[in-house]
Amino acid sequence: MQAINASIGFDREMWRQDIRGSLAHAAMLAHVGIISTEDETRIREGLDAIAGEIERGEFPFSEALEDIHMNVEARLTERVGEAGKRLHTGRSRNDQVALDVRLWTRDAIDGLDAQLADTMRALVARAAEHAATVMPGFTHLQPAQPTTLGHHLLAYAEMLHRDRGRLADCRRRLNESPLGAAALCGTGFPIDRHMTAAALGFDGPTRNSLDSVASRDYAIEFLSACAICATHLSRLAEEFVIWTNPYFGFVRLSDAYTTGSSIMPQKRNPDAAELVRAKPGRITGALVGLLTVMKGLPLTYGKDMQEDKEGIFDAAASLSLSLAATAGMVRDMQPDADRLRAAAGAGFSTATDLADWLVRELKLPFRDAHHVTGRLVALAEREGVDLPALTLAQMQTVEPRLHGGVFDVLSVEASVRSRTSFGGTAPDNVAAMAREWQERLG
Ligand code: ARG
Repeated sequence: MQAINASIGFDREMWRQDIRGSLAHAAMLAHVGIISTEDETRIREGLDAIAGEIERGEFPFSEALEDIHMNVEARLTERVGEAGKRLHTGRSRNDQVALDVRLWTRDAIDGLDAQLADTMRALVARAAEHAATVMPGFTHLQPAQPTTLGHHLLAYAEMLHRDRGRLADCRRRLNESPLGAAALCGTGFPIDRHMTAAALGFDGPTRNSLDSVASRDYAIEFLSACAICATHLSRLAEEFVIWTNPYFGFVRLSDAYTTGSSIMPQKRNPDAAELVRAKPGRITGALVGLLTVMKGLPLTYGKDMQEDKEGIFDAAASLSLSLAATAGMVRDMQPDADRLRAAAGAGFSTATDLADWLVRELKLPFRDAHHVTGRLVALAEREGVDLPALTLAQMQTVEPRLHGGVFDVLSVEASVRSRTSFGGTAPDNVAAMAREWQERLG
């Protein structure tokens, strides 16, 4: 029973939140006269001393005492006697654990938000530096149109910005205090839930005691936001894996984020990127795990809900590592501008520019221009050259009205420069957007 029942092995992670919650509860009990101020002082001093013990690694955690709540309370009573036994008046472990999980999740969100801002700063700084560094843009992982490295990095800044918004939404909704819902129906003691809510930084108390102890949607929402963010990071990580492959050779990751092989001396393995790519496995796993635990669970508290913790702890830690590794890789990476430029021009990547030119200069309908361009690409393919290397005479065999002006749009630089629509790839756009982000992020 003890082995399956105890959660102290993992819920000790919430000791700070548990003590914070108890301090607020004790202060409120004294304020409304349920306990004496002397008892409150003893409780406060006892809890402070316990925090010190835990911090120093001296706290005698006991599996027999099941969880962090019982461990702290039993130790408190050991240290301060009677007063410790009065702490649990007007509350239950059911509202206590719901409070601790909310506080823990809120702290985790604040930490992750700071890391997200840092990762965005790294992306935006490199984007500003590479606003005009031409690289291939892909669809289907096939060469599509030239873009810039700065534009590509800013795409991730947008994603991470939305991830911050999702975490902020989650924080807003979870920021109500369940403390005082007690076991499930509230209590007859004249507690002041508004007071504890305010003391703990909540917007107010939760409004239904049953819901307060029965719900974990904030943890699910947190995991969902983490899973989406981890998925974004995994896409950049996968791009690092591809870009650092010598056949691409687009960027070089620093030694700090790569490893050698124990047998193959030439290897530079992108381990950090691979691990960031892999982390959604466990984070999305935690999301699906908790959704599955909560599904069909009758109101109110069920011990099933003890299974919420390892998932959120692990997801937050995994996402934190992924963000740190991503920020580091982005800051350190060395793009190879020459290879990026050469790759950007390969695969007839300026074919769209050619079609657009035919529309503008020769007034061809776009569908006809698309067809003419297709024939020019086929010609270039037969000749074994890229589009800009065709002679005017060769091009005129396909469309006699073509003139020398066409060469102005066939270079990759001209192609990116022309994409001036809002949100487009033109280096001036990208530089301005990077500046805007730098101002917003400070
Ligand atoms: N360790 C429990 C949990 O994590 C705390 C709540 C226990 N409540 C109870 N009535 N047994 O959910």
